[in-house]
Amino acid sequence: MDDKRAAQAGNGLVVKPIVNVRGVEKAFQTGRGTVLALRGVDLEIYPGEYISVMGPSGSGKSTLFNMIGALDSPTAGSVTIGHVKLSDLNSRQRAFFRGRHLGYIFQAYNLVTTMSAIKNVMLPLVLGGMSKKPATERAEEVLREVGLSDRMTHLPDELSGGQQQRVAIARAIVNNPTILLADEPTANLDLHTGLAIIQMIKELSARHGVTVITATHDHEMLKVSDRVVWIEDGRIDHIARREELDIHAGSVD
Ligand SMILES: Nc1ncnc2c1ncn2[C@@H]1O[C@H](COP(=O)(O)OP(=O)(O)OP(=O)(O)O)[C@@H](O)[C@H]1O
Ligand SMILES: [Mg+2]
Repeated sequence: MDDKRAAQAGNGLVVKPIVNVRGVEKAFQTGRGTVLALRGVDLEIYPGEYISVMGPSGSGKSTLFNMIGALDSPTAGSVTIGHVKLSDLNSRQRAFFRGRHLGYIFQAYNLVTTMSAIKNVMLPLVLGGMSKKPATERAEEVLREVGLSDRMTHLPDELSGGQQQRVAIARAIVNNPTILLADEPTANLDLHTGLAIIQMIKELSARHGVTVITATHDHEMLKVSDRVVWIEDGRIDHIARREELDIHAGSVD
């Protein structure tokens, strides 16, 4: 893969992965025994790539997403982001790392319901220690970027699903993350709104060089992905580059 990648760069430079997942296993202990959600995953993701993780319900997509997003820890193996091995961080360092380098978008938007759109977007900045004035200015800028300049002071329940997801995107990118993680960001949206959200994420990644990792069931997402990782029963089944995919309307062969 490294050789292939270096050759593609065309200048002899070896591009180093920004995410390196090595032998990751995750076992959950439940009242009814142990569930092996990930059974040895190896994956390298390169800077600026748009990766979609696909697979049946229960195959381990969200679990993998949580490992890469430093939201949960593997029971075996390691995740390295840049030069940082996540297991070397204590919980405070981990929280700081998340706030500094990662942005998250979830299926259920996960906005704070009692806060206006702009307050939601300011939250990561304020938690990161930024004072109110620059945080407000930066949040306004990003909300304009996602097309919500006329909804800044609205509460989440005064917004449509697509608008709430755009607030969530604004919140995810407000701190200029290196990596944007999106777990089924279009699952609750109609086709048209879902397409708009996909285009928005793609544009942000192209414009700011953000690495995007999504877990998705949405075939529209595949069209903008550089690589698609198929996961099956906690293991990578295969990985396809976009040009290798034969995408028809609504189906993938
Ligand atoms: N906290 C948990 N405790 C016990 N088992 C869990 C936990 N989280 C996930 N699992 C199990 O791990 C497996 C993988 O779950 P995961 O949420 O990663 O699947 P998924 O591919 O994201 O599915 P979906 O497409 O439905 O979102 C499932 O069998 C699930 O039941
Ligand atoms: Mg999931």
